[in-house]
Amino acid sequence: MKRIAVFASGNGSNFEKITEAAKEGRIPDCEVVLCVCDRPGAYVTQRAARHGVPVLEFSPRDFESKRDFERLIADRMDELAVDLVCLAGYMRIIGDELLNRYHGRIINLHPALLPAFPGAHSIRDAFEYGVKVFGITIHYVDETLDGGKIIAQKAIPYDGKDIAELEDMIHTEEHRLYPEVIARLLKNELN
Ligand code: GAR
Repeated sequence: MKRIAVFASGNGSNFEKITEAAKEGRIPDCEVVLCVCDRPGAYVTQRAARHGVPVLEFSPRDFESKRDFERLIADRMDELAVDLVCLAGYMRIIGDELLNRYHGRIINLHPALLPAFPGAHSIRDAFEYGVKVFGITIHYVDETLDGGKIIAQKAIPYDGKDIAELEDMIHTEEHRLYPEVIARLLKNELN
């Protein structure tokens, strides 16, 4: 059984899709064993409670440094024997402590075709730039912002004027692709 931790900062719709996919066997032989959240009370924590997934929530400002709260996270993940860390709307750059201890085992979902439009507002940035082919990227995490080797991408053409419609299209595709890519990664079908 592979054990994954999902990190999220807010809504947590991708956390929920991954958890459901694991429970329903669409990510075979896999269990979501931890939800890590850096904003106590964020909606993702309610989703986790509904699914019976333990939550590690913390406020970064309660710690002296990133290293300190990442040590707490990594210690907890070691105890749970986590195999793979999936960032899903975790709006924080991963630091050395986690990168060293979970090297090559942290992946991220990003709502743009990287390396274009990194950062926290990529859908809006791409829309305002006049982009016609949007998309999503799943990539390994390294010390750079939204950098790291790309694992999978999906292009989403959109020529309309309604950013809410575009966001819906992107989120729908994220909910389908992320669990599928996690499943293939755990089966060593991707690199
Ligand atoms: C997702 O769209 C994800 O791609 C994005 O945050 C959203 C989280 O939604 N991540 C980033 O922008 C990372 N730079 P969710 O909380 O409903 O899963």
